Amino acid sequence: MRFATPGTVAAEEAAAAWLLDLLGLPAGAAVGFVTGATMANFTGLAAGRQAVLAEHGWDLDRLGLTGAPRVRVLVGEERHGTVDLALRYLGLGEPTLVRADAEGRIRLDALAEALSAGSGPTIVCLQAGNLHSGAFDPLRAAIALAKRHDAWVHVDGAFGLWAGASPRLRGLVDGHETADSWATDAHKTLNVPYDCGVAIVARPRAVRDAMGMHASYLVHAEGPGDPLDRVPELSRRARGVPVWAALRSLGRSGVADLVDGLANHARTIADGIATVDGAEILNDVVFTQVCAAFGDDRTTRAVTSRLLADRTAWMSGSRWRQREVLRVSVSNWSTDAHDVTRSVDAVRRAAASL
Ligand SMILES: Cc1ncc(COP(=O)(O)O)c(C=O)c1O
Repeated sequence: MRFATPGTVAAEEAAAAWLLDLLGLPAGAAVGFVTGATMANFTGLAAGRQAVLAEHGWDLDRLGLTGAPRVRVLVGEERHGTVDLALRYLGLGEPTLVRADAEGRIRLDALAEALSAGSGPTIVCLQAGNLHSGAFDPLRAAIALAKRHDAWVHVDGAFGLWAGASPRLRGLVDGHETADSWATDAHKTLNVPYDCGVAIVARPRAVRDAMGMHASYLVHAEGPGDPLDRVPELSRRARGVPVWAALRSLGRSGVADLVDGLANHARTIADGIATVDGAEILNDVVFTQVCAAFGDDRTTRAVTSRLLADRTAWMSGSRWRQREVLRVSVSNWSTDAHDVTRSVDAVRRAAASL
């Protein structure tokens, strides 16, 4: 790819370097542009699978998975479903679920217990940004714990990794740079068009071992490796170019303003909904997610469907911690204070109409 389309590769590699810098990740990490966080999770976990098996003397490329030592994968009980999907693609089966706290963050005592309960090749998958609460796993401590057991640590930060780009919110991802791989989406927080996830692996060699491909007709340039060795696909569109364009036009402060703006709107929406009769905000609003309930499940469902019928704002219904919820995820760059007011008014109308 480097040889065939050097301009595209140059733009993507500039975008990759900016991304690492903005998100606070190690400068030498490998960055691959994939369809979305699902495939970014797959890529990071594939690199992890290969690496932990190699550390236990198993050559996955040559021998495949049959007869390999079992790779145990520990995940918080509120991980995103695409982590399970990636593990299925990888033949790793169901993960071991580790208890989470009331905000959906992995519990350190439960993680320590789960790590000590077994041995052998181990992957720990953490989360930066819970889709219901927006909460972040305690990354620094959880990664240190996992490392004491020689685990590979992957962080699913589909939208939450972007907290690292905001000086105000950076504390939420404290310690994230000590993990081995990360998944995020440029088509979420950065708002580039869909079909743009980012798979980041700290040691480029680890992702090349898992994803590298050699064929006599492909010209492999010397040097930093080829972008096609960092992603599952051989042919793909130039996904990194819109990322380059967005970062080039927004700059560091523009991205920070974008992230802060989404989080501020979430806070205002939560404060507004909290004033609606019968409403209750269920999560600690730390980032861009808000979950509200309106008494019992039947009423919450009814408010959600009235709100959707009103067509002013779109918020999804969901179920979180055994309750029906109205779920808000503030993601669009163009949402402004007026939209926020209109949205809260629409929720108030929906609740009052019952
Ligand atoms: C935490 C998390 N991980 C992974 C995903 C999957 O992302 P994508 O749809 O881009 O594959 C999402 C999507 O909402 C998510 O919120």
